[in-house]
Amino acid sequence: MTDKKPTTTDAGIPVASDEHSLSVGPNGPLLLHDHYLIEQMANFNRERIPERQPHAKGGGAFGYFETTEDMSPYTKAALFQKGTRTDLVIRFSSVAGERGSPDTWRDPRGFSIKFYTSEGNYDMVGNNTPIFFVRDPLKFQHFIRSQKRRADNDLRDHDMQWDFWTLSPESAHQVTWLMGDRGIPRTWRHMNGYSSHAYMWVNAEGEKFWVKYHFKTDQGIDYLPQEEADRIAGEDVDYHRRDLFNTIRQGDYPTWTLYMQIMPFREAETYRINPFDLTKVWPHEDYPLIKVGKLTLNQNPTDFHTEIEQAAFEPNNLVPGIGISPDKMLIGRVFSYADAHRARLGVNYKQIPVNSPRSPVHSYSKDGAMRVQKVSDPVYAPNSKGGPAADGERYPTDSTWETSGDMVRAAYTLREDDDDFSQANVLINKVMDDAARDRLVSNVVGHVKDGVEEPVLSRVFEYWKNIDQAIGERIEKGVRGG
Ligand code: NDP
Ligand code: HEM
Repeated sequence: MTDKKPTTTDAGIPVASDEHSLSVGPNGPLLLHDHYLIEQMANFNRERIPERQPHAKGGGAFGYFETTEDMSPYTKAALFQKGTRTDLVIRFSSVAGERGSPDTWRDPRGFSIKFYTSEGNYDMVGNNTPIFFVRDPLKFQHFIRSQKRRADNDLRDHDMQWDFWTLSPESAHQVTWLMGDRGIPRTWRHMNGYSSHAYMWVNAEGEKFWVKYHFKTDQGIDYLPQEEADRIAGEDVDYHRRDLFNTIRQGDYPTWTLYMQIMPFREAETYRINPFDLTKVWPHEDYPLIKVGKLTLNQNPTDFHTEIEQAAFEPNNLVPGIGISPDKMLIGRVFSYADAHRARLGVNYKQIPVNSPRSPVHSYSKDGAMRVQKVSDPVYAPNSKGGPAADGERYPTDSTWETSGDMVRAAYTLREDDDDFSQANVLINKVMDDAARDRLVSNVVGHVKDGVEEPVLSRVFEYWKNIDQAIGERIEKGVRGG
């Protein structure tokens, strides 16, 4: 008797060899009925699943969130009640590169959390930036294509990137942010996470608020200068993934403190900035950060494929007490992600353990490829057979706002301070210091010199001069020389 586990087929049948196919004599041809060899080949040929369209490269971990403050005046969400501890899975990612791309390329980073709450899964699918490049979901697909690869040579192309950005002036704030220090975080542990969008919170009395999430790193913000990031990209494409895994393995658990910006419901109507425009922040002076609790990561995956690659985050996973806002991007996202998951993972992706809620599921979904959890009768509602029945009194449709108007295709109505450039200007002149401004100019010059041609080039200088005349002139000089 030995303790060693015998190799088996996927059906659990012990096999005789890990090394030798079944053949006619040692030198003879192979036999088709060697079903173990065929199972190995067939499984291998199907190992790869489609990568995520954006955010293909990433890594993740498990942990928990503890609400340390009283949030009940703002939300009835179970996970945000003081003293509640909720398990979670997190995934960090870069946006434009493929699954094997270097972690240290300049790019926004994804910051996705799935909270396994007592009232279903709540997903906060954010980025490490508080803003975004566009404000209409019709432009998102075009934006991502412009950051990925050309049709002819399948190369990435800075001319294409700046062509899109300069024809989309609403991108100015996010592009300034991206070209600054925080465009390449030192590690995933050294960056903040933001919901970016405004969401709605509803308390037990039905009172509504608009909110934005800010997960601030307790490790401190740190970044990689361009040269160091370029060097690392050539030496270790998995630098960020490795850092997270090794740090957690060593027991040095990273944490983030969650703060909210909270806007009373009616103030959205009169605020000087459209609070639902994703290209704008709510200045802290107007809406200060309110502490909520702490997120800790303390467990690595043991099977990256089933736990991280097949994790499916979707902004439509909202729990009682949390709703969406009229942000058009967010409304678009509420459709897009579940559709992507059905295409990437199959219709029953919520039955993959990492995506399954820890609270009971009583849905009427049934059958479909790869369903593994059993359904039981009755399979329809309403029924008189004791099946689940929606409880609209306990779970009312309350995260709502009133709306009316003609159907149009139009930009948001502009408010007093709704221009595309002033918040980018504030970032450059009031938040960055001289050294950070120098690095901004140098980062842009290096990026633009790498392949941007006329007529896009002239538009790049105009774009930056619109943000800040002096910075625009410095960039032009840096690129054209003189
Ligand atoms: P504040 O002075 O109150 O806040 C400045 C913010 O900028 C802080 O959140 C800080 O993050 C962040 N920051 C510092 N350095 C950089 C950098 N190089 N790149 C990006 N962000 C940085 O000002 P306001 O709230 O009035 O905002 C001013 C500008 O700051 C905005 O126009 C926006 O560009 C930027 N910003 C604002 C945020 C917001 O939610 N209001 C969030 C992040 C950036 P930290 O405290 O973590 O160091
Ligand atoms: C991933 C669509 C805007 C953050 C994705 C995916 C799609 C998508 C289809 C791939 C999902 C998958 O295959 O698992 C969109 C659309 C947007 C939009 C249509 C705008 C209309 C945003 C914004 C943010 C964001 C504004 C941040 C605030 C992310 C993150 C991921 C992601 C973090 C990776 C999720 C993961 O870790 O699995 N997006 N996106 N996206 N998106 Fe978006």
